[in-house]
Amino acid sequence: MRDQLAYRRQFLKWTSLSALGTMLPLSGYATSAEWLEFMNQNDSIKNIHDLKSLSLEKLGQDAQDYLNGGSDDLTTVLANETAYKKIKIRARRLVDVTSVSTEIELFDQKMDQPILMSPVGFQRFFHEGGEIASAKAAQAKGFTMIASSVSNFSFTNIADQSGANLWFQLYPSTDRKVTKILLDRAENAGCKVLVLTVDTPVVGNRENSGTTLMAMIESGELRMGNFEGILPEGVSFTDPSMTWDMIDWLKANCNMKILIKGIVTREDAALCLSRSVDGIIVSNHGGRQLDSGLSTIECLPEIVNEVQERIPILIDGGIRRGTDIFKALALGATAVCVGRPYCWGLGAMGQPGVEMALDILKTELIRDMQLAGTTSLSSINRTHVLY
Ligand code: FNR
Repeated sequence: MRDQLAYRRQFLKWTSLSALGTMLPLSGYATSAEWLEFMNQNDSIKNIHDLKSLSLEKLGQDAQDYLNGGSDDLTTVLANETAYKKIKIRARRLVDVTSVSTEIELFDQKMDQPILMSPVGFQRFFHEGGEIASAKAAQAKGFTMIASSVSNFSFTNIADQSGANLWFQLYPSTDRKVTKILLDRAENAGCKVLVLTVDTPVVGNRENSGTTLMAMIESGELRMGNFEGILPEGVSFTDPSMTWDMIDWLKANCNMKILIKGIVTREDAALCLSRSVDGIIVSNHGGRQLDSGLSTIECLPEIVNEVQERIPILIDGGIRRGTDIFKALALGATAVCVGRPYCWGLGAMGQPGVEMALDILKTELIRDMQLAGTTSLSSINRTHVLY
């Protein structure tokens, strides 16, 4: 009996680092119904895959297709996830891992973990709280969220309502006057980092996306908060004529740090350096743009080699586990971003679901660092993976 109690105590101590342990106490829930849902689901949701399953039960078919879909045959969507499985971790032993730090400083901002939230548009399609619910979760858990240009709530509104550390993702309009308004609003709301997405000159061939989203936008049921009242008839919010000169234009028109999202080759990494951008996000838009490219984790090494630590390199696409984050860091990423994982949480339960997703990823990363014999992000290196 005593043994059993001692075991339970020990188990509880260990699990204080588990998802269950770090999720309590929870803060800032939108509704008591969501709190109840959280209590009901807490035991059954052990990982990001469980959150995805729950979101599938909650979301309508079109919302699921929009969130989970990609372009053409979904080759790149799948590749992003499966490529991580091919990389093996080389764990070191007999390191004191009692205390682990996941702290990082990025663009003069201190963060408790190297995990950020990728920009995802139209989040009210998943939950009525939309981007505000996600940003409140980010704020409650101390994460940074990159808010999409095509958010349902405006950037100003998301910032005001959440108080979260937000970066702004830009799709430049064909009318630069519109883009300038977006930049000014982001800066006025306190944003210090701009993320320019460069993999979307046109929208990818998403054959499985239904018509519901478009219909909801056209009817006004889903709004495009940032563009309301400023997008003249016939002007597009993406610009297929954009070239590398855009970076010079952005530098002349805002004071934010500039990250380029969507880089997948060393040649383009070199051009980023020659244009003096502040950082790169290795991304293929979660497999939603050009199909048949490499997975992002396969693109990472050549970009790391080109950049030689001159600027931070972030990566997103297919990250579902702490081990995936560990592998990306070991291969030279400064930090990672996740898109669908937190949106599955949003679709499953609103803000508490997003908090759950963030907790799960951070908790897994800490445990995996301990199991691999690493105690800080700087102690994770190329020798920790076989690739
Ligand atoms: C996206 N992504 C995206 N990227 C961007 O720059 N602006 C945007 O508005 C959107 N919108 C968007 C909607 C949805 C539903 C998804 C799933 C993705 C791409 C996103 O930022 C990121 O690159 C991927 O989601 C990363 O892959 P994972 O983590 O979803 O596998």
